[in-house]
Amino acid sequence: MRVMNHPVLGEQKDIEWVTIIFNGKPMKAEKGEMILAALHAENQIVNRYTAKRHEPRGIYCGIGQCTDCMMVVNGIPNVRTCITPVEDGMTVEIQEGLGKWRGDK
Ligand code: FES
Repeated sequence: MRVMNHPVLGEQKDIEWVTIIFNGKPMKAEKGEMILAALHAENQIVNRYTAKRHEPRGIYCGIGQCTDCMMVVNGIPNVRTCITPVEDGMTVEIQEGLGKWRGDK
């Protein structure tokens, strides 16, 4: 889902890539982009599941105001991924409820 050749801005060149670990699997991301953008580029649109009804949530505001994009990042729950840039080697996991990692089941 990345725009590598934009009709106005031209071809994307000299991209620096980093590797993040999403739910235990390596995934490439563009250095400096937000975690949420990297996940969307790989068609990953669910960031967390609600505590009461176990409903999936993904991007809503995209500017750090709604908390729908919260995930577990480097073991820390409730990180707003739309305003958190990727770092090489960081772990990102889908958040269950108020902060339990899905892999803990
Ligand atoms: S999408 Fe709303 S806080 Fe991230």
